[in-house]
Amino acid sequence: MHKIIKSSFLKWAGGKKRLLSILDKFMPENIERYFEPFLGSGAFFFYLVQTQKKFQAILSDSNFELINTFKELRDSTNELIDILYEHQVNYYKNREKYYYFIRDEYITKNNTELAGRFIFLNKACYNGLYRVNRSGNFNVPHGRYINPKICNKEKLLDCSELLRISDVKISCDVYKNITSKCENNDFIYLDPPYFPISKTSNFTDYTKESFGLLEHNELAKEYERLNSIGSKVILSNSNSEYIKTLYKKHDIIKIKSSRNISCNPNKRQNHYDLIILNFDKKTKDKKILPEINSNSNSNSNSPNTNSIKQ
Ligand SMILES: C[S@@+](CC[C@H](N)C(=O)[O-])C[C@H]1O[C@@H](n2cnc3c(N)ncnc32)[C@H](O)[C@@H]1O
Repeated sequence: MHKIIKSSFLKWAGGKKRLLSILDKFMPENIERYFEPFLGSGAFFFYLVQTQKKFQAILSDSNFELINTFKELRDSTNELIDILYEHQVNYYKNREKYYYFIRDEYITKNNTELAGRFIFLNKACYNGLYRVNRSGNFNVPHGRYINPKICNKEKLLDCSELLRISDVKISCDVYKNITSKCENNDFIYLDPPYFPISKTSNFTDYTKESFGLLEHNELAKEYERLNSIGSKVILSNSNSEYIKTLYKKHDIIKIKSSRNISCNPNKRQNHYDLIILNFDKKTKDKKILPEINSNSNSNSNSPNTNSIKQ
C-alpha cells in the first residue's frame, strides 16, 4: 500500500505538487543538507521530509508574509488555527464583504494575525493567487470557490508537525544570500518565478520586485557557481528556448505538466516544464511516468525523459 503523502497547507502559483513524482526520480541518493530558496508553498520540502531519511533543511523565500506564515504555523499553531476558525465563521456570513474588509482594511496586531490573514486570503482569493501591486499591497480579487475551507485544522496540524519534527531553518531573504552558504554535496532545489513563454504568461508578481530577464541571467550564473563548488542542483523553469540556452551545458529534461493558475481548466493541460540537473540522475526506479514527455531520445538512465543535453 502507498503511504499517503501530506501536501502543503497553501495553494501557490507555480506550486510543484503536480511535479513531485517526477522530481523524485531525479533526486540524489542521500540528502544531508537541503536548500529551497524559492519556497512558495514548500511542496517539494513537505514531500522530501516524508519520504527521505532525516536531513537538515534551509528554507527561504523573499516574500516576508509567506515566511512569517511558515514560522507562525510551526511556532503558534493553536493560536493560528483559532484565528482561522474565526475568519471562517465571519466569512461564511457575508463572503465578499468580509474578503475585501480583510484584504483592504483589517489591521493585524501581531505576526500570528498576519499569518492568519495570509492563509485566509490564500484560501478565499481568486484561484489561490498571490500578487501584489507596486506598493506591495495584495490585490487579488475575491475567489469563486463555493465552500473554501479557510481553517483546515487537520492539514495545518500535519504541516506544523512536519516543520517541527525536522531540522529546519526558515528565513526571509533573496535567494542569493542563501545559496552563497551552499557547499559541496548540498542538495538545492531552485524553483524561481518562471521565464515567460508568451505575453500572457508573465506571472512573476509574487513580490513587488519582479523576476525578469536580468534575474534569470544572474540565477544561471549562480547555478554555474554552485555547480563549480560541487553542490547538486535541480532547477525548474518554463519550456523556453532562452532557458535552454542559459543552461545548455547541463542535463535539460522536458516534462509534461499542468499548471494550476489558469482560470480555465482546459488551459491547464499540456504545458511543458524544464528540469535542469547538474548531477547524475537516480537510476533505481525506471517506471514510465505518463507526465514525462514520452518523445524520448535515447537516455540510458531514464528512458521516459526527453533529455536534451547539448
Ligand atoms: C514558482 S514559486 C515557487 C513555488 C514552490 N516551489 C512551490 O511548490 O510552491 C517562486 C517563488 O520565488 C519567490 N521569489 C521571487 N523572487 C525571489 C528572489 N529574488 N529570491 C527568493 N525568492 C524569490 C516568490 O515569492 C515565490 O514564492
